[in-house]
Amino acid sequence: MAENRSGFSSSFGAIMAAAGSAIGLGNIWRFPYICGKYGGGAAIIVYLLFVFLIGMVLLMSELVIGRRTGHTPMRAYEELRPKHRNWRYVGLLGLITSFLILCIYFVISGWTLNYFWESVSGTLASIADGDFATHFAAFASSPVAPVVCLVIFAALTLVIILGGVQNGIEKVSKILMPILLVLVVLLCVRSLTLPGASKGLAYLFSPDFSQLTTEGVLAILGQALFSLSVGMGVMIVYGSYIPKGDGLFKSAMWITVCDTAIAILAGVAIFPAVFAFDQSPDGGPGLVFNVLPVVFNSMGNVGSIVFGGAFFLLLAVAALTSAISLLEALTAWGADYGKSRKRSAIILSVVLVLVAVVASFSFDGGILNDNKLAGISFFDWLDKLTGSYLPPICALLTIIFFGWFMKKDDIHDELSNHGVLKISWFKVFYHILVRFVAPAALIVSLVAGIFT
Ligand code: TRP
Repeated sequence: MAENRSGFSSSFGAIMAAAGSAIGLGNIWRFPYICGKYGGGAAIIVYLLFVFLIGMVLLMSELVIGRRTGHTPMRAYEELRPKHRNWRYVGLLGLITSFLILCIYFVISGWTLNYFWESVSGTLASIADGDFATHFAAFASSPVAPVVCLVIFAALTLVIILGGVQNGIEKVSKILMPILLVLVVLLCVRSLTLPGASKGLAYLFSPDFSQLTTEGVLAILGQALFSLSVGMGVMIVYGSYIPKGDGLFKSAMWITVCDTAIAILAGVAIFPAVFAFDQSPDGGPGLVFNVLPVVFNSMGNVGSIVFGGAFFLLLAVAALTSAISLLEALTAWGADYGKSRKRSAIILSVVLVLVAVVASFSFDGGILNDNKLAGISFFDWLDKLTGSYLPPICALLTIIFFGWFMKKDDIHDELSNHGVLKISWFKVFYHILVRFVAPAALIVSLVAGIFT
């Protein structure tokens, strides 16, 4: 089945696809908020350290595992350690995590589609400032509208996967990622030219080390890992599609730079506008669905339609390219075990949608919200597991495998493209970052996550 492993056709396509996976909702609604809250410029400095020294190291290790073996996570681990087959369960755990993340992504991305439509159709412009929270609560808890939206979003994702790795994922990423950049720059220009924009910039960038608490440092570390989509094997799958001649250090560097740049630009697009209209800075759904619509409405009817529309389109595009990578990881897994890509993708999508519908019903105020486990709804369980616990656990196991069980020569060989590239940084990378710094950081963040 040669078509199954066609891979990306160019370095640019590979980087756009992987950057598309990394750039997601987290860049837009979580990164700016975390930076603002934990000391502005101080938080950004710490973020840069974490994302380049730990996140990128994990990203490189996943890319190496993927390209070396040309397989999806479970088979990749098996092939690299045939005598220790249990390692493949790390791959399995990553796939389960991907599945759960995708369920949540379907629900939330559906909301962004709805808000995009309500922006451009003028519905949001007709809502009074004080009523957005009620509007959102009514929408998200309804049994019909969010389901329709999530089905549309899932169908979009599926269609692209059915197009294949080159004609679906790669082509779409090469179109959508530049659009995403244009949208975010447009919003930055609008935001920066508002009177009073400088307050938002100060909030985001002026360093205040007194705000940089332990809790803040951990949140920043978590964000650095989450943002690069590492820890669930998705990057192993994308790594297996990267052309053989590409330098994996260079690919990882570009992916990290794009992801970080978009996160910072998102902050510049959001906070100056939030402050200019005297709203309070927030993160997550509260920011996106309650605060920002007020900001867009303050720009007048046309402003609300144009900038609100642009913003929700930006969110939907960012979410779509991430969802694509998650569905691809699951689909390729089936294909790796001889199943047809098409059938795997369709069956998976149906199951994912069913679980996502249950998640949607269990959101605040929904018809299943009262069915709780340990006092937590299904939606919040998914959110907790995929946001705080599973990715760092998988990432830790991955890096331990990579640093302590995979053959060092294999790693060197893959990173240097069989000795073609000079990689003078390899010693520091392998003996310090991979084997000690990254695992230690992950252990600290996990332990702290469990006890706080
Ligand atoms: N990186 C995504 C974001 O910033 C979230 C994410 C985490 C993700 N793990 C992933 C996306 C795996 C795709 C695949 O929002």
